[in-house]
Amino acid sequence: MKDINIASAISDIGKQGFINIEIDPIIDLFVEIEKLKEEKNAIVLAHYYQEPDIQDVADYIGDSLGLAQEAEKADADMIVFAGVHFMAETAKILNPEKKVLLPDLKAGCSLADSAPAGLFRKFKEQYPGHVVISYINCSAEIKALSDIICTSSNAQKIIESVPKEQKIIFAPDKNLGAYLVKKTGRDMVLWNGSCMVHEIFSLEKITRLKIRYPNAKLIAHPECEEQILRVADFIGSTTGLLKYTQIDQAKEYIVATETGILHQMQLSSPEKIFIPAPPNNNCACNDCPHMKLNTLEKLYVCMKYELPEITKDPNILEAAKKPIERMLAISRKYGL
Ligand code: 13P
Ligand code: SF4
Repeated sequence: MKDINIASAISDIGKQGFINIEIDPIIDLFVEIEKLKEEKNAIVLAHYYQEPDIQDVADYIGDSLGLAQEAEKADADMIVFAGVHFMAETAKILNPEKKVLLPDLKAGCSLADSAPAGLFRKFKEQYPGHVVISYINCSAEIKALSDIICTSSNAQKIIESVPKEQKIIFAPDKNLGAYLVKKTGRDMVLWNGSCMVHEIFSLEKITRLKIRYPNAKLIAHPECEEQILRVADFIGSTTGLLKYTQIDQAKEYIVATETGILHQMQLSSPEKIFIPAPPNNNCACNDCPHMKLNTLEKLYVCMKYELPEITKDPNILEAAKKPIERMLAISRKYGL
C-alpha cells in the first residue's frame, strides 16, 4: 500500500468513519491481530453483537456492564473497542489517558441517538427534584447530565438503591423503562427513546414459531416491546440470556435480541437449538446495522494505524465519569 493512499485514507476518516484501504487478501488477520496486540500492549473488548470472527479474536466478550468493568480495570496501553460508539466512549471516560480505538466511528446506536443532549437538558428542567438514571446506551453528554448510569444487568438494583420517595427520570429507553417501572413499582418519568433492533420483533410470527417448536422457550432482552416481554419465558441482558441458556434444561430457544449473541450460545451449548426471533418484515433486520459496521478487516487496520480514535472534550469526560463510577460502585456492592 503506497504511503500516499494511506495518508488520504486517514484524512478521509471523518467522511468514511474508518480507514478505507485494501488489505492483502492472503494475510491471516487472526495472526496479525494477535501480533498487533502484543506489539502495542493492546486489548480487544467486544460486545456479543459483534460478528463471530471479532468475538473469536477478542480478549473479552461481554454485555455493557461487563465491558465497562473490564475497561475500568484495563492495564493495557490501548483499548480497541469492538462495539458501538457509546461503549467505546464509556471506555474512554473511564480511561481518559489511554488510547481508545473504534474500528468504525460510524458504529452508532439508534437508542443513543434518540436522546440529543440539548433536548434532554430542556426535558430535565421540566422535572426539578428528579434524579436522572440513564441507560448506558447514551452519549457522553447525556451521561454528564445524569446522576447514575445503569445497564440492563444492573438497572433494577440501581433503581432500588435510590430512596423510595425520590422521584426519578429514566432515559433514554422507554421499553426498558416501562419494564423497570413494572419490576420495581417505581413511577418513573420516561424519555421516549427506543432501539430499532429490539422493536422489530413480530409477536404474530413468534406465536407461529412457538406452535412449530412447542418446547422452545422465548428469551428476550428488556429493550424489546412490552407485548414481546409479556410472553417471554426469561428476560435478561445479553450476559443474562447467555447464562440462562447454559443452566436451563430446555433444548430449544427463540432468541429475541440481536443475532450476534447466538454465536456464544451455540459455542457453549452445541447440542441446543437457537432460533433468532423473527422480525416483522422479510429481511434479517434483527442484525444491528451499527454493531455490524465493524469487521475483522477494519479491526486489523484500526489496530495497525491506531485510528479511528475516540476523542472528547475533557470537561465532558470528567462530568460523565461520576455517574458511571456510581454505577460501578453499586454493582460492586451487589456483586454484579
Ligand atoms: P447488554 O449487552 O448490556 O444487554 O445491552 C444490549 C444492547 O443493546 C447493546 O447495544
Ligand atoms: Fe443500539 Fe439497539 Fe444496536 Fe444496541 S442493538 S447498539 S441499542 S441500535
